[in-house]
Amino acid sequence: MNSLPSEKLAEFIGEHTYGLWRPQKTWKKPVYIVDAEGVYLYDSTGKKYLDFSSQLMCSNLGHKNKLLINAIIEQAQKLQYISPMFACEIRAKATESLLKVLPENLKKIFYSTSGSEANETALRIVRLYNSSSGKYKVISRYSSYHGATAAANTLTGDWRRWFAEHVNTVPGVVYAPDAYCYRCPFNLKYPECGVQCVEYIDYIAKNEGNVAAVIVEPVVGTNGVLIPPKEYLPRLREIADENSIFLIVDEVMSGWGRTGKMFAVEHWNVKPDILTTAKGCTGAYMPLGITATNSRIMEYFEENMFVHGHTYTAHPITLAPLPVAIEEYKRLINSGHIQKVSSHLANRLNELWNNHKCIGDIRGLGLFWAVEIVKNRRTKKPFNTRMDKASMKPLMVDKISNELMVKGVYLYGVVSHFIVAPPLIITEKQIDEGIDALDEALKIADKEVEE
Ligand SMILES: Cc1ncc(COP(=O)(O)O)c(C=O)c1O
Repeated sequence: MNSLPSEKLAEFIGEHTYGLWRPQKTWKKPVYIVDAEGVYLYDSTGKKYLDFSSQLMCSNLGHKNKLLINAIIEQAQKLQYISPMFACEIRAKATESLLKVLPENLKKIFYSTSGSEANETALRIVRLYNSSSGKYKVISRYSSYHGATAAANTLTGDWRRWFAEHVNTVPGVVYAPDAYCYRCPFNLKYPECGVQCVEYIDYIAKNEGNVAAVIVEPVVGTNGVLIPPKEYLPRLREIADENSIFLIVDEVMSGWGRTGKMFAVEHWNVKPDILTTAKGCTGAYMPLGITATNSRIMEYFEENMFVHGHTYTAHPITLAPLPVAIEEYKRLINSGHIQKVSSHLANRLNELWNNHKCIGDIRGLGLFWAVEIVKNRRTKKPFNTRMDKASMKPLMVDKISNELMVKGVYLYGVVSHFIVAPPLIITEKQIDEGIDALDEALKIADKEVEE
């Protein structure tokens, strides 16, 4: 098999392994990657690509970080697997490092192997906690993604839930409007709006009955890097307290230095009851999911059964890179590197806005940015909608992403925006490479703008 040319191997992969979130006829010959280092990927022809979205916004520390690799090798040599019923050194070490950087009210951790499982666990915990009160509903938002497993997909607001609703929906999830100022669901303007999007969550909490929790991505990720107004999260904390519901923050994508702080909630000084994360926690070198809970939840399970667990809970090799990754993130945050390169990225993106009629909005925080494209800047008419994506129409973002691949830049496009989220180790010069290519590729959309 290995003697086959890479073209054939890519076809074999397309034929016999599933491509994600797509009809399989569009997954015939994926780009075959043979190497990756720093912020670059290399295909089998030797072509180099700048990784401008950190893969799925997870390779935050870039590729081939020696410290992470060595931590994994050392753990593999020492203790590859031990049942989660036992204690071991890396579980203590990883947990100690984690508790030092999590919001300080979070005291007890459940380890799994993905963001979906981290959220699945959060839902299970709030429902178990509320067993005697009968509260079970969770408020989520439309512009959200929380994962692909049953509960996590039900918590998801975007189109990725629509297809699976008849398959494995769990009962009791209600959806709130988004904090999406560029396309305000109430058609209001900040600050005169009084941040209705968060007040509406209070309304839902009071009128639904049996609400146990609200879950939000503090900065919404794949659905457009939506940064809430400054009042939003502190007010959501108040609403959660006033209505006696848990606040769950999903930092699967927004965590780990992505926004310039270890966790996005730190920008607003908000303490969640549960924080879920995954992706960047190991720099994506190992699949690890984390559900961190406060002391109230921790105490509840002293006397009540914690009915949950996986064979691979706290798998030693998945934990191995965590302490090292945390040190790397601290270094990148505290040295001022992220701040420096992110202000360069912000300036370069704003230049793009001036050069391209097809750009409707640019928003971001740290090294987490969205470029939203529109057919008409004045009316904000999008090139494509979630409905287009769901009905498998060709999308303008895909055309542009494909052109960027030709130019040697990998950039993740979603419905009508791009997510610019390079590895945090990126330099200003490498940012320029990505922006220059995007500057060229956006001309494709400029040509289709309606005057
Ligand atoms: C905010 C958020 N939550 C949860 C998930 C699910 O994580 P995973 O794909 O590791 O299951 C994702 C994945 O993109 C995510 O962005």
